[in-house]
Amino acid sequence: MSENPQSADLIVFGGTGDLSMRKLLPALYHCDRDGRLSPETRIIAMSRGGLDDADFRGKVDAEVRGSVPVDDLDTWQRFLGRLHHVSVDIGGEDTTGWAKITGLLAGHEQRDRVFYLASPPMTFGPFCRELHRAGLVTPASRVVLEKPLGRDLASAQRINDEVGAIFDERQIYRIDHYLGKETVQNLLVLRFANAFLEPIWNSLWIDHVQITASETVGTPGRRGYYDHAGALRDMVQNHLLQLLCLVAMEPPSRNDRESIRDEKVKVLESLRPITGGEVDRFTVRGQYTAGESGGVPVPGYLDEPDNTAPTEASRQVETFAAIRAEVKNWRWAGVPFYLRTGKRMPYRCSEIVVQFKDVPHSIFAGSAPNRLVLRLQPSEGIELHIMAKEPGAGEVALKPVPLSLSFAETFTTRVPEAYERLLMDVLTGNPTLFMRRDEVEAAWRFIDPILREWDSWGTPPEPYPAGSPGPAGAHELVLRSGRFWHEEDPS
Ligand code: BG6
Repeated sequence: MSENPQSADLIVFGGTGDLSMRKLLPALYHCDRDGRLSPETRIIAMSRGGLDDADFRGKVDAEVRGSVPVDDLDTWQRFLGRLHHVSVDIGGEDTTGWAKITGLLAGHEQRDRVFYLASPPMTFGPFCRELHRAGLVTPASRVVLEKPLGRDLASAQRINDEVGAIFDERQIYRIDHYLGKETVQNLLVLRFANAFLEPIWNSLWIDHVQITASETVGTPGRRGYYDHAGALRDMVQNHLLQLLCLVAMEPPSRNDRESIRDEKVKVLESLRPITGGEVDRFTVRGQYTAGESGGVPVPGYLDEPDNTAPTEASRQVETFAAIRAEVKNWRWAGVPFYLRTGKRMPYRCSEIVVQFKDVPHSIFAGSAPNRLVLRLQPSEGIELHIMAKEPGAGEVALKPVPLSLSFAETFTTRVPEAYERLLMDVLTGNPTLFMRRDEVEAAWRFIDPILREWDSWGTPPEPYPAGSPGPAGAHELVLRSGRFWHEEDPS
């Protein structure tokens, strides 16, 4: 429980949407339950939904209550009491909604005011302009932008300019929820609060790094978004590149908002561009076809149930992406960073695997190089695989065994959801775990040429059956240099 949390108004645009109902409201309830919201803090959802406060509270009661631990009804009722809903006609003629929100916020100019834009990126600019026009942007205001920020570098720059015309950079919080995950923050602690790793954290000792985010879910009902995003924009441009940054960055001089972000930008700027003919060699894109998930038959991407029928964009979009990236600097020269992500994979797992080189000269048969696995989900933990002698007389037999740290077993406190941490950071004005403008744009600079090349091919991505470990091309991407993906179901 924090002492004296500040009163705040959190205004969520797209407040009745999927993200809000599945992630933001449950996270805010947890913050409230832990005593981290001041009694006066209000959560105001804005949407086109035509709901009033009572309708919205009823909706949250029906849809969110089942997914959070409600151990006492008073706390739940207190949370519901914080909720308000304003119907708004963005860019339209009807200004009643804007008048209502202006009325709700009037007299509370001294509070922290957070505008959370959980809506498509092209609405960010117009929404900020409306806020400004309605006189709602105070010096204590912040704006949170959900990813993906744009579709490419040009659109990201445009959105950054539009939002930047209303808010100062220090007021803009670009969210990437992976940065709120406990293991991701632990990676910084592991690297920079322990001395033993730093001397071997470089190309002399590390053979390669694998960063995987595989999901068993498909995309039912998400065609409208996913057809125009695809795995590269949805997962790689943000989540996976952020993880790469944290693995590859130099030790920052301080644990503060700018030092860490400065180091991450340097990594993104050191990524070797993948352009033209290299795109075919160093990237793989796939799309799932019918198969199985958890023993149950599931449709392919094009046959997922949805309100809209598949189009040419659906046929071209990737649900799997893999990249062989390289960080061109002294520490990492020659070390491949393999990134991959996919929907409808055989198991759910997000992890970073740091594969060390073998010993310079082995005196034992059967030795294998060390490996460090940082697991983000499903069970958060760290494993260092070392070689040990199997007990017994006679020939020395070696076996790789893990030294493991399971967060659930070691710490009894509940591991908070990423959004809890990040929402509290926004409410308390700490942008360290949010992306700065130059970071987002540097990430697009790396991704753009790959997207352009893929678009120019005009061929569909490589098919892979749902429940399989992705297209054959992904296997070949690592096998070409005699390597294999780390495949181990952590559940
Ligand atoms: C989101 C993507 O950013 O991350 C989704 O838009 C994806 O497509 C999700 O499913 C994965 O998040 P997590 O925390 O479940 O790994």
